Amino acid sequence: MTNGIRIAPSILSADLTRLAQQVEQVVAGGADWLHVDVMDGRFVPNLTFGANMVEALRKLSDKPLDVHLMVVEPERYIDRFADAGASVFTFHPEVSPHAQRHLVHCKSRGMMAGLALNPSTPLSMVEEVVADLDLLLIMTVNPGFGGQSYIPASNDKIRRARELLNARGSRAFLEVDGGISRQTIAAAHAAGADTFVAGNAVFASADPAREVQELRRRCLVTV
Ligand code: DX5
Ligand code: ZN
Repeated sequence: MTNGIRIAPSILSADLTRLAQQVEQVVAGGADWLHVDVMDGRFVPNLTFGANMVEALRKLSDKPLDVHLMVVEPERYIDRFADAGASVFTFHPEVSPHAQRHLVHCKSRGMMAGLALNPSTPLSMVEEVVADLDLLLIMTVNPGFGGQSYIPASNDKIRRARELLNARGSRAFLEVDGGISRQTIAAAHAAGADTFVAGNAVFASADPAREVQELRRRCLVTV
């Protein structure tokens, strides 16, 4: 039971001096969602965007904006991102002990609610809240930077995450993020992922539109 395929280019790797054009390119290539990485320099060793980036993207595109909070106390920002036009609000339970309450809050603000797990965080961290999840994000690199290498052990974790969602009858999206490329996407898809974040693979390529198409095509290659 999967939900089709969604490709979500990560704005982190876009050329911000021509953001509008980069968005146009990936949308032309069939990008389903736009992924926005919010980092605070505390949960992860890097600083990126706030809600103002979501506001800007909302003006540039009507695609769902998939916001990934890599910040401590992510719950402090739920209302701000909802107001800015976020469609998905995904945060890390590693830094949010009352995640269930916050998932409900996200949904009450009209957003899909997601939890993200670092590579070293076990799936059991989300087991008690599967019913509250619209999305489960399996990090396939340690978050913080674009352009890192896919961790091969992720495939087994994706498989177990898919089993968990299916066993509970969950229709949550199963997203993967980090090192997704032509080389890694097929195995992640075969393991059960349905939503693919790709930063470097898309925006460092000479033709971002074509790369989005190619990533989608590679999902259908048997591995
Ligand atoms: C990693 C971020 C990712 C990042 C992925 O910390 O959460 O969304 O943009 O970039 P690539 O696809 O280049 O690994
Ligand atoms: Zn991300």
